[in-house]
Amino acid sequence: MDSFISISISIFVLSLYALFFHCTNAATFNIRNHCPFTVWAAGVPGGGRQLRSGQTWRIDVAAGTTAARIWARTGCSFDRSGHGRCQTGDCNGLYQCQDYGAPPNTLAEYSLNQSNNLDFFDISLVEGFNVPMEFSPTSGWCNRGIHCTADINGQCPNELRAPGGCNNACTVFKSDQYCCNFGSCSETNYSRFFKDRCRDAYSYPKDNHASTFTCPGGTNYRVVFCP
Ligand SMILES: *[C@@H]1O[C@H](CO)[C@@H](O)[C@H](O)[C@H]1NC(C)=O
Ligand SMILES: *[C@@H]1O[C@H](CO)[C@@H](O)[C@H](O)[C@H]1NC(C)=O
Repeated sequence: MDSFISISISIFVLSLYALFFHCTNAATFNIRNHCPFTVWAAGVPGGGRQLRSGQTWRIDVAAGTTAARIWARTGCSFDRSGHGRCQTGDCNGLYQCQDYGAPPNTLAEYSLNQSNNLDFFDISLVEGFNVPMEFSPTSGWCNRGIHCTADINGQCPNELRAPGGCNNACTVFKSDQYCCNFGSCSETNYSRFFKDRCRDAYSYPKDNHASTFTCPGGTNYRVVFCP
């Protein structure tokens, strides 16, 4: 009788857990590496996953998640304990990222179910560029995706060039003119270099809010590297 009760309780708890887990999975992100080379995809939240060319990784993100990011790391090597280093996008040398990565890295940024029950998402070049990216909704009545596919690494101004990518001017010069830490700042030659190549992406911190896109809360998304 005792074991019957404990099994019943276990099943009840498991069902509750399943229900809870189901309800808190607000959004699914399908991440695909379409580059001809391996990348180490990273998400905060999400952690990390090595993706060979053509491989995908799915992350389920809780309702109301804010200030979240997905990016690609390149040129990585890790030991069996998950410690190592990446040429771009490195997150404190960890395979499973817990913090954002180091520039240069192309960013897919999002916050779920914010004001008016909308998701807000964008591609940002504020921390530079490493791989081309698509960030698109895949469900619901929302079909406006964002792309940044120009050859930014190939055309990068010399002073912004970095191993494996192209830095934003803020990263290189660290001045308020480019970083916008205090008050206002406006576009510069360097921000225009990024904006001219990726119209839909943020090119500097105070860029036009038209670079932020919205979908109804509960939408699912895909992020493609080298779409
Ligand atoms: C911006 O670019 C133009 C054209 O290349 C150049 O003449 C000008 O000096 C640049 N300005 C700055 C602030 O770098
Ligand atoms: C969004 O938040 C509202 C409360 O502000 C909630 O009622 C709704 O279920 C949430 N939607 C999703 C998809 O999480």
